[in-house]
Amino acid sequence: MDSDIREILVDEQQIARRVKELGEEISRDYAGRPLVLVCILRGAVVFMADLLRAITIPVTIDFMAISSYGNNVRSSGVVRILKDLDGSIEGKDVLIVEDIIDSGLTLAYLLENLRSRRPNSLEVCVLLDKQVPRKASLPIRYTGFTIPDAFVVGYGLDYAEKYRNLPYVGILKPEVYSEVQS
Ligand code: IMP
Ligand code: MG
Repeated sequence: MDSDIREILVDEQQIARRVKELGEEISRDYAGRPLVLVCILRGAVVFMADLLRAITIPVTIDFMAISSYGNNVRSSGVVRILKDLDGSIEGKDVLIVEDIIDSGLTLAYLLENLRSRRPNSLEVCVLLDKQVPRKASLPIRYTGFTIPDAFVVGYGLDYAEKYRNLPYVGILKPEVYSEVQS
């Protein structure tokens, strides 16, 4: 697996340090409020598990699965809900936990969808924000790392469902995905 990686972009220590900081910041900002963390499956599951334990205030969790990519490396713009939240978020303080923002299409859809359910507040915490030109600016409250526009895997992120269990975030060698696609 490691041999398919061209370069490690964010290593285990950097992730651990940043997740701890984010947890502290979120705990301060939401003190005294009933926080719901909404994990976007499947990519955000590793980040969610660590972030959750870095938060020191009471919190509940819920999960939503959406699909925007299929097995491709570029967003199709077509977003489907594969699994919806179990609970109502009406009147609650909701924090979306997402792995990565690329074109922003997935997040724009999610924000619109969840906003229509009338939460008290709706914010976003994303591990990785790719530096790409976007049509509209996205309201991202918490960002782990800003990264260059490359296809990355690890720490929950996959390529064709592989590499999610790498403990770091790395850039995949381009020949790896050209092999899979051909
Ligand atoms: P967007 O809609 O283009 O912002 O894409 C967001 C979704 O695509 C993320 O939730 C990821 O699941 C996936 N994605 C985007 N970029 C990458 C990447 O570099 N590696 C792995 N998955 C990615
Ligand atoms: Mg995702």
